[in-house]
Amino acid sequence: MTTKVHVECDIRDPGLAEAGRLRTEWAERSMPVLRQIRARFEAERPLERKRLSACLHVTSETANLVHTLKAGGAEVALCASNPLSTQDDVAAHLVVNEGISVYARKGEDHRTYYEHIRAALAHRPDLTMDDGADLVGALHMIALERFDDLAEPVREWATALAQEDRQALVSQVIGSTEETTTGVIRLKAMARDDVLQFPVMAVNDSHTKHLFDNRYGTGQSTLDGILRATNYLLAGSVVVVAGYGMCGRGFAARAQGVGANIIVTEVDPVKALEAAMDGFRVMPMIEAARVGDLFVTLTGNVGVIGVSHFRIMKDGAMVANSGHFNVEIDLEGLAQIADGAPRRIRPLVDEYRVDSRRIHVLGEGRLINLAAAEGHPASVMDMSFANQALASEYLVRNAGILERQVYRVPEGIDREIAELKLRGMSIQIDELSPEQERYLASWHLGT
Ligand code: NAI
Repeated sequence: MTTKVHVECDIRDPGLAEAGRLRTEWAERSMPVLRQIRARFEAERPLERKRLSACLHVTSETANLVHTLKAGGAEVALCASNPLSTQDDVAAHLVVNEGISVYARKGEDHRTYYEHIRAALAHRPDLTMDDGADLVGALHMIALERFDDLAEPVREWATALAQEDRQALVSQVIGSTEETTTGVIRLKAMARDDVLQFPVMAVNDSHTKHLFDNRYGTGQSTLDGILRATNYLLAGSVVVVAGYGMCGRGFAARAQGVGANIIVTEVDPVKALEAAMDGFRVMPMIEAARVGDLFVTLTGNVGVIGVSHFRIMKDGAMVANSGHFNVEIDLEGLAQIADGAPRRIRPLVDEYRVDSRRIHVLGEGRLINLAAAEGHPASVMDMSFANQALASEYLVRNAGILERQVYRVPEGIDREIAELKLRGMSIQIDELSPEQERYLASWHLGT
């Protein structure tokens, strides 16, 4: 049976649309905040006729965000923000049942990944939405005519455009939103170097995002990805957690919860101290490398585990990454010191032989929670994507007022999301009495 597709797209199989619809509906049940925003968007249409190109993990939670943006009047195009994280059935659902242009196939190669970014840019967006700043980065390289920094499919397309077209592509963008820590770091660097071309809302910096998504979402789903990839018993094993930021502390807590002995590696003295006082052993990676059974990087940095570490790891050691890019584990270095090519011993486990010891790399060093599991649970993405939807509305409402800077989502919106989430969870809290308000506002009512 063939399924008719009426929009421009590049997906694995439109025949998967029904499975994707069910998966999306299942996620929606845990997304009460987004549901409420969608109802308001349907009535108010704050994104009417705005073309929005989003580069996000193509998952059932993202499908619910796309529904919300569409309800607000946006014309959405979606490409993947990671080659391994796409849920092909969800991509099919969005294309077939929602008429959204989706460019994403699970397991797409490097060229196809950038071809999909190019396709999303070719929609000539008024708004962009990014997870890791690949889309916005490409747009800026085009505007700044730094063609050598562009991946091939984007470069070919951009150089064929007239200069006015290239400028128009960027100058019509009202603004962008950015989902993750790594993307925000890149965009802040662009603002610092005075090359940022439009305002960006750092969704990651909202309390209702990083305190929950990065901590509880990454914590649980990273564990989930590792277990699905390996079926390994964590109880009694030594798990080395590189990076004790929001993601690292979430994962360390969850791994401890199933009985692992945790070692934390850090470069920030305050974070290292926190890890130590949370009850974990803290040491440099070169020491941890000798004793760890499983290593997980969550730093947003490059080359955190390298050749000097692989050379001293135990036989059977496993390494995985849950930071945004696949640069935290030096896989090229590992390939160079390994005897022969790696052997795929399970669907997402590659075995390398180093000095007659086996080292196992999970999920090709890409975000293990998305490569081997389903990413964050919907309940936590509810808040992250509420921030995305409301930040897009804010950009449109403040078009022409905001500067070419990275902004936090206003505190009022952050609190509103927390209130809506509490309501969705049927949790009530106390309110300040007038006397308490006076007390907290005053400097002379001390006793
Ligand atoms: P964060 O900034 O809160 O924490 C990162 C920590 O890594 C910092 O404490 C830093 O000092 C430490 N670090 C940096 N270089 C290090 C090194 N060489 N060795 C040891 N520690 C080092 O960042 P957050 O929010 O925890 O994010 C970490 C990464 O995870 C980012 O790339 C982010 O984009 C990504 N992320 C992944 C998610 C997923 O679904 N897997 C979800 C959210 C974020």
